[in-house]
Amino acid sequence: MNKEEFVAKYKVERHNTTSLKWDLLEQRFGDPDLLAMWVADMDFKTADSITEALANRVNHGVFGYSYVPQSYYDAYFKWMDERFSFPLKKEWIRYSTGVVAALYWFINAFTEPEDSVIILIPVYYPFHNAVRDCGRKLITCSLNYENGYFAIDYDRFEQAIIDSRAKLYIHCSPHNPAGRVWTEEEQAKLFEICKKHNVLIVSDEIHQDFTFDNHQHIPAAVVKGGNYRDRIITVNSASKTFNLAALIHSNIIITDDILREKYDRYIKTVNQTEFNTMGLTATEAGYTGGSEWLESLKNVIYSNYMYAKDTLHKELPEIIVTPLEGTYLMFMNLTKLVPPDKTKEFIQDRCRLAVDFGEWFGTDYKGYIRLNLATTPENVKIAISNIIREAKLLKEER
Ligand SMILES: Cc1ncc(COP(=O)(O)O)c(C=O)c1O
Repeated sequence: MNKEEFVAKYKVERHNTTSLKWDLLEQRFGDPDLLAMWVADMDFKTADSITEALANRVNHGVFGYSYVPQSYYDAYFKWMDERFSFPLKKEWIRYSTGVVAALYWFINAFTEPEDSVIILIPVYYPFHNAVRDCGRKLITCSLNYENGYFAIDYDRFEQAIIDSRAKLYIHCSPHNPAGRVWTEEEQAKLFEICKKHNVLIVSDEIHQDFTFDNHQHIPAAVVKGGNYRDRIITVNSASKTFNLAALIHSNIIITDDILREKYDRYIKTVNQTEFNTMGLTATEAGYTGGSEWLESLKNVIYSNYMYAKDTLHKELPEIIVTPLEGTYLMFMNLTKLVPPDKTKEFIQDRCRLAVDFGEWFGTDYKGYIRLNLATTPENVKIAISNIIREAKLLKEER
């Protein structure tokens, strides 16, 4: 399906549908009439295979106790093996009600109160919250930043681990909001440092299916032939891929027996219900019949990105756009256009946009914004043209 056909068929009005992104603008931004370009879900209906599978489940009318069928494993394992060369085994898999929930469980299962947990910033803000909420010490290590491109400073990472005696590193792969799809070499270098200092690795791979322009996602547990598996816990989900966030279903992969036993001992104390049947049904249907939908969606997202990047480059070269290797979230540095203290006023009050602000991802990133590109080309055009119009007016006013 081409981009136009995809947008025409799947775009959907989301106001008044209990959508956090569209209906909570007043509560979250103090203004109900902004164009919602923030939180990471999409303004498209999910794949037909998913709506059909859910409808069948609903029409049966019984929602009694359930179990994970073999067909779920078959669909998920095929997806992971064919796309990411990660053959899985049933006994390695656990479930969680969302990736963020799993992060909290991992922190509690694998570290002690007062232990340090390290993250590479800027990064998805629940990483920060999870560490703090669990009463652990949050250690942030900044990524290097050059002309919009983020990369790892290995020396800084190692020094931060040595100084803090960090026990756990939360890896975001692909990285939100830095847009990076980490290469095997980059990951191997990071994990070697973790190994040297006995740091466990939690790898959040929820954005695994959004990679562009020949960038290939390599699961942490596959890096260097699985060399670091004895310290890796992976969590992924079909929820970003197929727009299923509210069905709160994610997969946990723990290949190592000792880590898995430790996790199981912990999880028994906090969670007895492993999954929700609707989440499981949707996930299986996505992995079984959603490939074509996903390919068309990715074309729309990448074309939105190319449009936004090229137009801004031409009209407002002082805005630095971070290259989008992965995820559908475009990070932009506005500091050369607007003083960081005025970013919110500029973006919200003048451009009429609800975005994720850079400081949510790390204090040093005030003056940056993250735009969600999983929406119609029309919305992206409005967002970009509002920014250009207001930037020009701003310059005239100076
Ligand atoms: C890196 C990352 N992890 C986790 C999540 C959310 O996961 P969940 O909705 O399953 O809790 C997001 C959502 O944007 C994300 O970007």
